[in-house]
Amino acid sequence: MNRKVTVVGSGHVGATAARSIADKELADVVILDILEGVPQGKGLDMLEACPVEGSDARVLGTNDYADTARSDIVVITAGLARKPGMSRDDLLMKNSEIIKSVTEQVMTHSPDCIILPVTNPLDAMAQVVYRVSGLPRERVIGMAGVLDSARMRAFIAQELNVSVENTHAFVLGGHGDTMVPLPRYSTVAGIPITELMEADRVDAIVKRTAQGGAEIVKLLGTGSAYYAPGSAIVEMVEAVLKDKKKILPCSVFLQGEYGIHDVFVGVPVKLGERGLEEIVQITLTPEEDAALQKSAAAVRELVQVINA
Ligand SMILES: NC(=O)c1ccc[n+]([C@@H]2O[C@H](COP(=O)([O-])OP(=O)(O)OC[C@H]3O[C@@H](n4cnc5c(N)ncnc54)[C@H](O)[C@@H]3O)[C@@H](O)[C@H]2O)c1
Repeated sequence: MNRKVTVVGSGHVGATAARSIADKELADVVILDILEGVPQGKGLDMLEACPVEGSDARVLGTNDYADTARSDIVVITAGLARKPGMSRDDLLMKNSEIIKSVTEQVMTHSPDCIILPVTNPLDAMAQVVYRVSGLPRERVIGMAGVLDSARMRAFIAQELNVSVENTHAFVLGGHGDTMVPLPRYSTVAGIPITELMEADRVDAIVKRTAQGGAEIVKLLGTGSAYYAPGSAIVEMVEAVLKDKKKILPCSVFLQGEYGIHDVFVGVPVKLGERGLEEIVQITLTPEEDAALQKSAAAVRELVQVINA
């Protein structure tokens, strides 16, 4: 196999994504962490799963960036979770330092890669990757919208008792409290959900989607979601490696699209072998647009704190 995907961070999200990339035989996988032994152990465990899965992917766990050399895609999940007593700004500063140092090392060994940042706060961390890497905006694509819309699709399918395969959902904006689920563009077999359920049910789904991450954090008691985030990462990796030209909501650096300048925000994009191949502009109502602008302003505030 000649494609190579590196996953930085061998925690819950990184390991889940790495395993699925190997199982699906999308590429050889390198999983890297600062913890000694953990990426090596998880990597070996994944490699040993491959014969059962029928995959010839080679998986390597490491602490050494030299092993990541010439990766086609680098997924960054490294970071700290918020601990008791830590403010959002503390987390922001700590994770931006981690992301900066990870990005520098990634670029030394894979100067032409496509980077998919995942670490939270997602949009601000994507901006750090973009600034530090010096890559064109087409090659830095944050994962959030695919996860948020997967959650919305699951809720729609449950509500209407239909196959998830019939569902599409659109969630724009920053990955946080200000995200903007768009019911008008969320459909079942092409029919907007606004025509399929009462307004109060639509509102409930929108609200649950926006709080989807928090709902799982509360249930788990410690840590945050990783199965759906892992699947969302893999969908993006697959779209790039297979040049699928898939339209997915992703966090990208906007330069005037949707009237937003110089900040990462989630919008629909076309993903293919060149990374971000097109930003799809959809018409928004004044209310939807106001919500998107508010969400962009919230990301901008974070970005200003870390000067990215
Ligand atoms: N964008 C999204 O939609 C989304 C979804 C889920 C989780 N996340 C975020 O992804 C991140 C990872 O979540 P998780 O549940 O896997 O956390 P986790 O704590 O299980 O794993 C994080 C890993 O990063 C490693 N790490 C820390 N500093 C590092 C460094 N400098 N270099 C390499 N590795 C380093 C840690 O050792 C740990 O193994 C978090 O920031 C989380 O908030 C984002």
